[in-house]
Amino acid sequence: MKIAFISSEVFPFSKTGGLADVAGALPAALTGLSHKVRIFTPLYISIDKEKFNLKPDESLSGVAVEINGKPHNVNIYRGVLPEEDVPVYFIDYPEYFSSKSYYADDEYEDVRFILFQKAVLELLLIMNWKPDVVHVNDWQTSLIPYYLKENYAGEKLFRDAVSLLTIHNVGYQGLFPKPALINAGIDPKLFYVTGPAEFYGKVSFLKLGIVYSDLINTVSKTYAKELLTDEFSGGLKDVFISRKKDLFGIVNGVDYSVWNPETDELIPQNYSLETISLKEKNKISLASEFNLDYHRDVPIFGIVSRLVSQKGFDLFYDLFDELIGMNAQLIVLGSGDEKYETFFKKAEYFSSGNIKTHIGYNNDLAHLIEAGADIFLMPSLYEPCGLNQIYSLKYGTVPVVRKTGGLADTVDDWDESVKKGKRDGSGFSFTEFKSEELWKTIKRALKYFNDKPTWRQIQINGMRKDFSWEKSAKKYDELYKLGLGRKRV
Ligand code: ADP
Ligand code: GLC
Repeated sequence: MKIAFISSEVFPFSKTGGLADVAGALPAALTGLSHKVRIFTPLYISIDKEKFNLKPDESLSGVAVEINGKPHNVNIYRGVLPEEDVPVYFIDYPEYFSSKSYYADDEYEDVRFILFQKAVLELLLIMNWKPDVVHVNDWQTSLIPYYLKENYAGEKLFRDAVSLLTIHNVGYQGLFPKPALINAGIDPKLFYVTGPAEFYGKVSFLKLGIVYSDLINTVSKTYAKELLTDEFSGGLKDVFISRKKDLFGIVNGVDYSVWNPETDELIPQNYSLETISLKEKNKISLASEFNLDYHRDVPIFGIVSRLVSQKGFDLFYDLFDELIGMNAQLIVLGSGDEKYETFFKKAEYFSSGNIKTHIGYNNDLAHLIEAGADIFLMPSLYEPCGLNQIYSLKYGTVPVVRKTGGLADTVDDWDESVKKGKRDGSGFSFTEFKSEELWKTIKRALKYFNDKPTWRQIQINGMRKDFSWEKSAKKYDELYKLGLGRKRV
């Protein structure tokens, strides 16, 4: 199959979160299944063209994109996923992709991604590359299924293509004031209360994608079910219910060539299941990096996260005294909402030296924390999949999570496994979104941390888990085939 894979971020070129990790790994795994995949993504100014050897493709440049009657000329750069044979096409339009952050929330936000999506379709036409599957991700690319069915309905090149929309996070929907309708060239008839393009008076790119995609999936089985409820659907419950038979859940994989303690070049000491005791050396380095006193018997909790409400940080407010007084250390790496940044900086300030906060995005530190921490904290309010807890499993860093979305699907609670007589739990989890539940679970983890044989068992259970992309890519392969089968009927 020929698969056009379209994403607003792709690791290692651009990344704000897990979407980039998925877009940098799934296409390679699909290529491994003998599919021909081409990736399409914006050329943000921060992407290092030299480092990644990206070259302008003169033969494809000058792609004409019309927005609201005005022509825009777009250039194309080409590269490949490092170490892989997967071509990546970069949409170059400096006027729109030069701000420091990819998602600027300014007056051009809609136009930026309208231009990107139209440019991708025009580019496919210029290349005369006939995709069997057009796989789009999140709101930044969710107009494409609509364009395929309406604006490009007459194009032979797209006639047999199946569109799949992967929703990585329903908390971000691409909602814009009404002029976005004209900018995007969406039929104004679709904009009425509860209509396909309307969400509480705003134009919704994601909703249009959900309505128009041939198939929809999200990044875990539990989140796929949660999307059908009031609590988790971001107001789109009825739309999801109307597409229930086309909605699937496929858990994300992990790129073990990037996240593997055996081969990770960003950590001081490599280790594996067989040499797990060497992990301690990373703890020593981590403590020293963050200016913490190292104690073998005092666990380090790690957090690596966007600091946003989705990740459950409201639960920490009522635990301030417990955290600064606990016989454990905490390292927080993240950036995001000011209130959470301030909370953790304050916790560091008032602590007796057991809490360290690093505000910012830092890939090297993310790897060091995964390798050096004893316990990984991820008490999310909601979590479509979540990748850090899966990385943690591989690194023998025991995850403490809230049982929601992908966290529920990837982490098994130790005590629950014991109750079933199995002893195969890989972490600790809780259900109710309450500070005292999180605290109880942290204390459970602390108790077992002191019971060394049990702790080792929990670590080993996690490290044995296999969330490689090969497995999940096969599920995508099945989904594509399902779509194509239906289309040909
Ligand atoms: P989300 O996509 O919702 O942010 P995921 O767990 O799926 O959550 O993916 C987050 C990814 O972003 C992981 O690869 C994680 O290591 C990375 N990440 C998040 N915050 C930071 C940070 N401050 N510094 C470095 N990496 C980060
Ligand atoms: C989103 C979700 C996260 C998921 C990631 C990749 O950012 O918040 O749970 O792992 O996308 O699918």
